[in-house]
Amino acid sequence: AQLSQDELKQQAAWKAVDYVKSGMVVGLGTGSTAAFAVDRIGDLLASGELKDIVGVPTSVRTYEQAKGRGIPLATLDEQPKLDVAIDGADEVDPNLDVVKGRGGALLREKMVEMASAKFVCIVDDSKLVEGLGGSKLAMPVEIVQFCHLYTLNRLQALPEVAGCVAKLRMEGDAPYVTDNSNYIVDLYFDTPIADSQAGMCPRLPSKAILALEGVVDHGLFLDMVDVCIIAGKEGVEVKER
Ligand code: A5P
Repeated sequence: AQLSQDELKQQAAWKAVDYVKSGMVVGLGTGSTAAFAVDRIGDLLASGELKDIVGVPTSVRTYEQAKGRGIPLATLDEQPKLDVAIDGADEVDPNLDVVKGRGGALLREKMVEMASAKFVCIVDDSKLVEGLGGSKLAMPVEIVQFCHLYTLNRLQALPEVAGCVAKLRMEGDAPYVTDNSNYIVDLYFDTPIADSQAGMCPRLPSKAILALEGVVDHGLFLDMVDVCIIAGKEGVEVKER
């Protein structure tokens, strides 16, 4: 029988939880793939196979899920050094650079994953792209609410992301609001933002976007993934940087 996408996500997530050992401080990602890892950690704690885990959640959603599963939790203020973080991604390129944040949690995810000795990224193989931005889905940028149209227009005018279309993320009739009370601008590209074959590097757009006043952070996670676990119909592949 063919595995469903949810089964692939679960396979990647469970494999990632092998990196979690008793006594560790663990970053808990956000999204449908990471949710399988959070559940798994909860189950292993409940059965006694794991002990003394402290989880650092990357969103209010994950906080609620982990709390419900009885995982002891802390903030980055309390636990500034993490052993491992496990999280999904929206796109993964051949260098293991990734786009995250379609679920809106990019800022806390980036803070927690930067603080982790090891970042384990978990995906099903539908997330693989040749160049970031290549899936024609959004590359999110978190911006402050103040004069957000001004910031949106400046983002779209950046030469480093020339040709992209910037859209304010909506939730019904109102702008989508992040856990940090900010807005999200989604950038849409016709061709990949970073096409390694064409010599385009995602670092230039990354820096240019971050340098704009009003921008808080963006969904390009470059040089951050240490291990990527990719679940496909042919099995689970573990790629290390
Ligand atoms: C949340 O903001 C995102 O970065 C998620 O980690 C990412 O969108 C992956 O989510 P799924 O596992 O649901 O695809």
